[in-house]
Amino acid sequence: MRALLVDSSAPGRLSLGTAPDPEPAPHQALIRVTATSLNYGEVAFGLDSAPDGAVLGWDAAGVVERAAANGSGPAAGTQVVTLMPDGAWAELRAVDTDLIGVAPDGVDPAALATIPVAGVTALRALHRIGPLLGRTVLVTGATGGVGRFTVQLARAAGAYVIASTGAPERDGALLRRLGAHEVVGAPEEAAARPVDGVVDLVGGPRLVEAYETLGEGGTLVAVGHSAGQGEEFPFGALFGDQGRHDRSIVTFFLLGCTGLGRDLGWLAQRVAAGELDPGITWRGGWDGAAEAVDALLGGRLHGKAVLTFDA
Ligand SMILES: NC(=O)c1ccc[n+]([C@@H]2O[C@H](COP(=O)([O-])OP(=O)(O)OC[C@H]3O[C@@H](n4cnc5c(N)ncnc54)[C@H](OP(=O)(O)O)[C@@H]3O)[C@@H](O)[C@H]2O)c1
Repeated sequence: MRALLVDSSAPGRLSLGTAPDPEPAPHQALIRVTATSLNYGEVAFGLDSAPDGAVLGWDAAGVVERAAANGSGPAAGTQVVTLMPDGAWAELRAVDTDLIGVAPDGVDPAALATIPVAGVTALRALHRIGPLLGRTVLVTGATGGVGRFTVQLARAAGAYVIASTGAPERDGALLRRLGAHEVVGAPEEAAARPVDGVVDLVGGPRLVEAYETLGEGGTLVAVGHSAGQGEEFPFGALFGDQGRHDRSIVTFFLLGCTGLGRDLGWLAQRVAAGELDPGITWRGGWDGAAEAVDALLGGRLHGKAVLTFDA
């Protein structure tokens, strides 16, 4: 099969080549991939550490080529969206059937390909906060792939949504269109405080500032670490008096979550219905991978990059 291979000598450390077809285990379906989207983690860290010739990639939309031998999962010919720790950047991938979401027919595969890491992370991070109806949620790094889904889902769930971004003047209109009630630079600028929950996609000093906005019983879900800096809390930040009782910070790891296939399918339906904007800001073919990687690592994407695979 054709694949994007890790190649330390190529621009973006990726080159087009061929790899052996995957051999699905009995609980895996074979998927013919039509589109994939890039994620910060796999590009920033995976490409540096993987050996030459490896096939990486977490997100893929496609069509079931061969159903799982054990009878689980969708039938051949079904349009699906899939998530695995590797193998998405290739024409064929073997996927555990519990990591497959069934998509409605006729949906743009590029839109579906944005869902796995970005969409499901947003959904699960919001679940971790708890009920959102009538609650206030702050999202940092709101213009990124995960951030855009988080803003939209929090709004759909009935929360008052505060979007924090590095460039509120540039991104304000976009984030309001996605559902934010307030768009701020630093979290401390939020008018609606204290907040009940934070989905932090940046880490470092942003996380510390965001924690300060939490009210009693509030939860900060530490999802992203794009800042590349540690978190240093000033003395007193972890006191529990003055409405700060029982605040918590929880870590998050998408691939540690179970039951993701159901979420993939639910999100695919929302995207198909036009209720969720997939936030595609870069689109190209396999041969554009180096350009997309460069834009992602250069912080110029502010949304999802999607590669579509020709037949
Ligand atoms: N723990 C997990 O399982 C898990 C799952 C998915 C993603 N993640 C992590 O979550 C983060 C967001 O993912 P993503 O796919 O949305 O990434 P992304 O598309 O690259 O977006 C990240 C956003 O963070 C902000 N940002 C980036 N660099 C920054 C910096 N140095 N200082 C301050 N803000 C910065 C920017 O938002 P603004 O322009 O709005 O400021 C950017 O759009 C990444 O760190 C990713 O690795 C973790």
